[in-house]
Amino acid sequence: MKTVFSGIQPSGELHLGNYLGAVRNWVTLQEQYRCIFCIVDYHAITQTYDAKEMAKRVSEMVVDLLALGIDTDRHILFLQSMVPEHTELAWVFNNVIGMGVLERMTQFKDKSEHQPENINVGLFTYPVLQAADILLYKAEAVPVGQDQLQHIELARDVARAFNHRFGKVFPECEALMTNLPKLLGIDGKAKMSKSLGNQIPLTVFGNDKALRKLLARCVTDEKRVQREDPGNPDDCPTIGTMHKAISSPEDLAWVYQGCTTAGIGCVDCKGKLADNLNAHFAGYVERRAALLADPGKVEEALAKGAVKARVLAQRTLGEVHKKLGLWRPKAVKPAATEPAANEHGEVAP
Ligand code: TRP
Repeated sequence: MKTVFSGIQPSGELHLGNYLGAVRNWVTLQEQYRCIFCIVDYHAITQTYDAKEMAKRVSEMVVDLLALGIDTDRHILFLQSMVPEHTELAWVFNNVIGMGVLERMTQFKDKSEHQPENINVGLFTYPVLQAADILLYKAEAVPVGQDQLQHIELARDVARAFNHRFGKVFPECEALMTNLPKLLGIDGKAKMSKSLGNQIPLTVFGNDKALRKLLARCVTDEKRVQREDPGNPDDCPTIGTMHKAISSPEDLAWVYQGCTTAGIGCVDCKGKLADNLNAHFAGYVERRAALLADPGKVEEALAKGAVKARVLAQRTLGEVHKKLGLWRPKAVKPAATEPAANEHGEVAP
């Protein structure tokens, strides 16, 4: 079975764009691959952020991921900073990749322009940490959006450069491109994102009134100025895209027929969408409530994920150390988990 690895920035509660553009696909991939999903908090600190908010952002995201169906019994979900091998391998990789390659990364250039006051070394070497994320698990497939292709290409370059110089350890990973919908925000202008404030948070499901209010605000096909003007769901950025992503073929036919002939109004179309979203997310709403009532579950999931990830990560790092020719005392084997310390913080020999 092939291994899939993907990472997501800890942005807190997920929105419909995250779901349709990534997480829904992750849930499906669980049927075909061994999946390793990582919340990349060490990547998140490369940009200016509020330290007081970080813990909340992580735990809210984990609740959403679990409620959406990430299965931590069969697969691995973990927090990047709990597995120190990621930064260790990134350090090794810093020595096989040139400055010039990183200088050409478009995301680095974009982010630098965005925060000129904080162009730090972490931001520069961000793609190297991402390569370490993937290669630590020898993942063959990486489901990502278009904006990450250059980073995946870099991970392949890193693998090739390491293998060439020190001997083969890493496979060449490939981006797993699925044609996922790109959902615009309720403003109908820009990609749905929390920072733009145009999102439909998943937490709105379960609150029917709030959902319908949010959908009412969504910009629709501009051709439909009046109720009797015909439109086209393909030109309806947010509502049309959501219908196509979650409604049944019958409902979709009803939407196309009604919209293009002005047989239905936007209000009818949005009403149907609300019904379908409610049905689609009923399980999520239920599981989310159960998780919120039992916070220990979330901590347990993350602790378990880190232990499982570390076993794999340490195995790869052991191979890397050997290839690098680093000295190790013969009798000492690396521990799979950290040894317990006593109340003075001392670790038994
Ligand atoms: N850079 C990715 C993003 O912003 C997140 C990420 C970090 C990632 N490490 C990864 C994605 C490894 C795939 C594989 O979306």
